Parts: sequence; C-alpha cells; structure tokens
Amino acid sequence: PKSSQGFPEHFLWGGATAANQLEGAYNEDGKGLSSADMVVYVPKEKRTGGHAIEITSEQIDKILSGKLDHERFPKRHGIDFYHRYKEDIALFAEMGFKVFRISINWSRIFPNGDDAQPNEAGLQFYDNVFDELHTYGIEPLVTLAHYETPLGLTQKYNGWASREVIGHFTNYAETVFRRYKNKVKYWLTFNEINMMTISPFTGGGVVIDRVQNKQQTIYQALHHQFVASALATKLCHEIIPGAMIGCMLARMETYPATCNPEDVRKSQHENQMNLFFTDVHARGEYPSYMTRYFEENNIVIEKDASDDEILKAYPVDYISFSYYMSLTVSSELGGDRAEGNLFGGVKNPYLKASDWGWQIDPVGLRITLNNFYDRYQKPLFIVENGLGAYDKVEEDGSIHDTYRIDYLRQHIAQMKEAIKDGVDLIGYTSWGPIDLVSMSTSEMSKRYGFIYVDLDDEGNGTLKRSKKDSFQWYKQVIATNGEVL
Ligand code: BG6
Repeated sequence: PKSSQGFPEHFLWGGATAANQLEGAYNEDGKGLSSADMVVYVPKEKRTGGHAIEITSEQIDKILSGKLDHERFPKRHGIDFYHRYKEDIALFAEMGFKVFRISINWSRIFPNGDDAQPNEAGLQFYDNVFDELHTYGIEPLVTLAHYETPLGLTQKYNGWASREVIGHFTNYAETVFRRYKNKVKYWLTFNEINMMTISPFTGGGVVIDRVQNKQQTIYQALHHQFVASALATKLCHEIIPGAMIGCMLARMETYPATCNPEDVRKSQHENQMNLFFTDVHARGEYPSYMTRYFEENNIVIEKDASDDEILKAYPVDYISFSYYMSLTVSSELGGDRAEGNLFGGVKNPYLKASDWGWQIDPVGLRITLNNFYDRYQKPLFIVENGLGAYDKVEEDGSIHDTYRIDYLRQHIAQMKEAIKDGVDLIGYTSWGPIDLVSMSTSEMSKRYGFIYVDLDDEGNGTLKRSKKDSFQWYKQVIATNGEVL
C-alpha cells in the first residue's frame, strides 16, 4: 500500500536480535554446539586485522580437546535471554513493539544438525517465547539461520560447502514451520547471506583451510544456500498459508568517490556484487553479470538438473536487509580507508563515523530503499539498523544516549521520505533493542540497546536490565506511528 502521508497504519515497529548473541545457555536442555559457540573473545589491543569470527581447523580441534578452556566465549552466554525472556519481552511490550525479530538456534532443535529426531526441549523453548510475545500482541519475525550452523555439520560435511546440508536444512525448516505454524507468520531464511564471502565459517560453517579453491567453495556453498532458501520458501507457503518469507542481505549502498567514470563503474560493480544475492532470491535466477564474473574467475557452479527450476519457482515474498552505513569506492589505489562490519572502502568526506568507524549516512537509507524498490517492486523490511556506541551510566543509574536517538531519528525520517516516494516498506526492527554480544567483536561495550544490560567485555556484571533515555523516545515513536521523532 502506497502512502503519501507517512508510515502505513499497520507498520511493524520493533527490534531485532539473534539467538547466539542473546540467549546464552549454550549447553542446556540438549542444545548442541554451533559455529558461534566457537568464537573466542579477543581484547581490542590484541586484535590483528581480519575477522575475529573466522576460524581454522586447528582452532576447532583445540577447542574440542579442551585446550582453550581458559578462554572466554561470550556468544555461549549472551545476555541470558534463555532464562530472562519474560522480563525482556515485558520491556519490549512497554515500548509498544509490534514485532520482535529473533533467530531459532538450529543447534537447539537438531543438536548435530542432521539428527533423526528434533530435540523437544529446544522446540518447547521457542514455543514459550512465541506464546509470551503473543500475550502482548507482538508478532515474532523468525530468522532460520543467523550465523548458528550446528558444529556437527562443519565436522561431517564442512558445512554448506556440501550439498548434503540442503536436505538437513529443509528438514529443520519443515520441523519448525509445522511446529509454529499457528504462532509465526513472518520468516527469513539466511541472515546477511552475503556474509559467506567475508567469513565462510560464520556464514555457513565452512572451514576454509579444508578446501583448495576458496572462491569456488564460497560460491558453491552460496548456491546450496540459494537452493535451500527457495525450498524453504516453498515449504513455508505449503505449511503456513498466508505466511510471508523473505531473504536478508547486508546492503552496502556504494558510492563513487568522484564523477570519474572509472569510479562510477567501480561503484556499479560493487553494487552488483552486493545485489546479486537479492537478484537471485527475488528474480529467481543468476544475473548475467555474475555469469561473466564466474567465467572470468574460473568459478564453476555445480548444479543439479532441477536447481534452476527451483530458484525460478519459489522467489521470496519480501526483501529484508540490514543497513548501518554506506560505502564509497575509488578506482585509484590508496586513500584513507573506512571501516565496516563486513566491507570497507575509502573515507567519505561528507560523513561522520561511529566509534567503530562505520560511516553514518541516513540519506543513504532513503537511496537504498528507492533503489531496492525500483529493482524488485517487492515489499521491503528493514530488519537491522542502529548505532553501536559506548554508553555511560550516571551515578543515579540513568543513561543519556542522545547520540543513539539522533542516529535513529535521522534514519527513521529518511524512511518516511522513502515511503512518500512510493516505496512499500512494511516494517523496521532496529538492531539490538536490548544490549547484546557484538557479532564482529564479541564485545558487550558496543551497545545498541534501548535497554542497558549490566555486563562488561570481561563477562562481569549483574545482568540487570535498565532503561536508557532512548527507551522513552522509541516508545513515543511507535505510539505516534513515526509522527513524533
Ligand atoms: C549484522 C548482523 O551484521 O550487524 C548482526 O546481522 C550484528 O548479527 C550486527 O550484530 C551489528 O554488528 P556488530 O558487529 O556491531 O554486532
């Protein structure tokens, strides 16, 4: 429904999380280990480039043989949502959430990924969470795979590098669709599916030192995820009439550093390499620019005879994405580098950056929304956006996070503009409505929440929850349907 006025009447306001950054209880009630449980905390001063989230065979062996027991694994403990979900959901309800995004941790349901039977205690936990949400009229939005590949699949098949995993994933998807068909209407398949190109272990439980040709393996694993995503879409529609299921991309709107055609062409190429993922999900086929890219890089995707038909027959119902920043690229070498959670680029002189160097660009969100809608004409859902920042607790316990309010206010204002442009935007879930463990650094001090959690980077704290100033602000945004920002 297009609106020239502003946010549509049933706009889905809420917040977004992932099981492994939130739940804790990594070995309770029959849960198996997942990829996220293997990530060791590395203090800032000891971080040496690259991604702390990528892992080697040697590290896995050391962890499994107990040689790293002295290390800390923050994603195993999260913020203890597993035991505190009632209190947390009550706070989301107080803010007026219409929707709450969580992921199901695959290894709670199938501890090894390929077990014959699902784990009833794991299924029951999510029943409890969904029931609690419905008590307050909050719709769950559920991600099937948010960086939580069961470790068993890594050890047996090298994760998504193997075609075998498609069947195990669709079995998991079918199990949860049947179980929650009366409780969950909104689904997502793979969180930031483009993560595979940055960290194959995080994106798909693939240990890259076990393969010969890295690029070949990455795109083959992605092909398996595309087919699995299409099959999950098919199953979801068969099992849950009226459900909506979407894909999820870490969208990086990429600008040219200048109007030099070489820069513009470079930014076009980067945008294509990013939009490739939603192209496959929404249009149901590989775009021709990727066929060329594969040929030029000696990448040969092995497909089963019916794969192309499957992709074509089951496109997604909506496009969801995360938006934190934009990127800028230059055809010239050198220049000041910019940081990002997945990708870098050169510094954009017109933008300020967060404490972690992410370049803040609210107008880029309007551009992103318009570009997506021009390309696909499908409903859009912003399922992550927010500011990771250091918060200071005052003596009286209050937290004046005006920087967070400013960031969110400016982005929401641009969403409103995009809706006036005619974009069909159905919802907005800001990242980490309650402070949680950082994906890229496993820090607690990188906080996104409206709700503060008393826990530090070393794992010390009472876990007590308290409201920041942004709590009342977001409550008012929702109550006025985005009129008062
Ligand atoms: C996205 C992920 O990339 O960004 C989330 O889907 C993540 O899992 C979020 O937490 C923010 O990144 P970070 O590294 O600041 O936690």
